[in-house]
Amino acid sequence: MTPTSAAGANWPDDSLRFDDRPPPGRAGPRPSPEPDGVDPLERYAAGIDTSDYVARVAPLIRAAVPSIGDLLDIGAGGGQLGANLRVPGQAWSVVEPAPVMQRRLQALDPAPRLVRSGWKEAGLPAACADTVLAANMPAPLTDPSAFLARCREWARRTVVWLVPAQHGPRGICLAGCLPQAWHGEDETPGVDIVLRGLSPSEQPAIVAEVAWTFTAVVADVARTARSLADRLGWPPDDPRRPDLLDHLAAQAVPVPSGHRLAVARTSAVLVWRTPS
Ligand SMILES: C[S@@+](CC[C@H](N)C(=O)[O-])C[C@H]1O[C@@H](n2cnc3c(N)ncnc32)[C@H](O)[C@@H]1O
Repeated sequence: MTPTSAAGANWPDDSLRFDDRPPPGRAGPRPSPEPDGVDPLERYAAGIDTSDYVARVAPLIRAAVPSIGDLLDIGAGGGQLGANLRVPGQAWSVVEPAPVMQRRLQALDPAPRLVRSGWKEAGLPAACADTVLAANMPAPLTDPSAFLARCREWARRTVVWLVPAQHGPRGICLAGCLPQAWHGEDETPGVDIVLRGLSPSEQPAIVAEVAWTFTAVVADVARTARSLADRLGWPPDDPRRPDLLDHLAAQAVPVPSGHRLAVARTSAVLVWRTPS
């Protein structure tokens, strides 16, 4: 089931998923473009632009990694975090498979060196960066051991992962506005799943948590409620739909371009020194 959304909406709905499981009612492994042609990753990146994510997360990473040096960012998205962490005069490279994010990365000034592939196909040489960063990308949850081995191979000094740590849904961001009975997701913090997926010898040297707020500006709360209900797989006549609209409307704060919805998130920063 796909949502309906009009062109021009800032954020008609939210389908970002941090893991690779398909959202309810969806067959594919990752979000596909919506009927209005706006890629869900672009909506996520626009939300990151208006959130306090970088302001809250970057200082914690800097405290854990005082000397970032040459930076390699895997699954860089719009590059907002990497652009803040990069050290002027040092190399800044990104691995990013999504064309819509590649366009954002290329538009940055300075633009990072871009590898247009997923991490498995990146083909980078060993020890190619001082710090390897992977923030909110699927591999730590879906393939932790193999991904850590690859990150360690690339890193001369440090590997940093940022993974979801809230007790709440990890998938559709705006589902974080809803009670568990509605979104139906497992609410286990992602960091617990990641750490369980690593052997004792693979555990990070540092685990630190930071709270931040995902902020989405939506043009039309009613349309966002419809889209969210569609994404949750609710049928068109589901009696909970009016309640979902009331629930979102009660949280929506009017802003000049629509309404702002905020979702509390927690991220865990995991750090490994290499060689370990
Ligand atoms: C939720 S976004 C996070 C973006 C950015 N790191 C941040 O923290 O804002 C996840 C990113 O991981 C990328 N990604 C997904 N699968 C990937 C893979 N196999 N290899 C590298 N990047 C991947 C997506 O294209 C997307 O840009």
